[in-house]
Amino acid sequence: MAARFEVLPEARVTEQYREHLSKPFFPSLKQYIMGGPCFLMIWEGHNAVAIVRKLIGATNPQEAAPGTIRGDMGIDIGRNVIHASDSPESASREIAIHFKPAELFAYARIDESVLYEY
Ligand SMILES: Nc1ncnc2c1ncn2[C@@H]1O[C@H](COP(=O)(O)OP(=O)(O)O)[C@@H](O)[C@H]1O
Ligand SMILES: [Mg+2]
Repeated sequence: MAARFEVLPEARVTEQYREHLSKPFFPSLKQYIMGGPCFLMIWEGHNAVAIVRKLIGATNPQEAAPGTIRGDMGIDIGRNVIHASDSPESASREIAIHFKPAELFAYARIDESVLYEY
């Protein structure tokens, strides 16, 4: 678990979205992401990546289901409000870009036995 509220520096935005660097929308995406502070969070839990991807909705808010963050809060694909890692491997890569090990917290939740079957 971890959280930080900050304006992202350009170097970390570039590293975060390195697979999109050559895309035509990258300059606009970078401007959008750096246009104000972001709330960065590390969440953990069983199947967290797949669950969170459902919670945020489809990349294009116009195709995102009502009740998802992008479906409720976004309209244009280049202004889709939120990012989430798309695999555990991406999550590990992205966590290392944005957080130092000392900023991460591991602790047992008091309600784990009622949340989890195993
Ligand atoms: N065709 C597009 N036009 C404008 N912005 C785009 C487009 N495709 C993707 N983006 C932006 O780049 C981000 C990263 O794209 P991608 O990794 O494909 O989607 P996701 O954020 O759902 O994982 C998107 O969240 C969106 O902000
Ligand atoms: Mg992505």
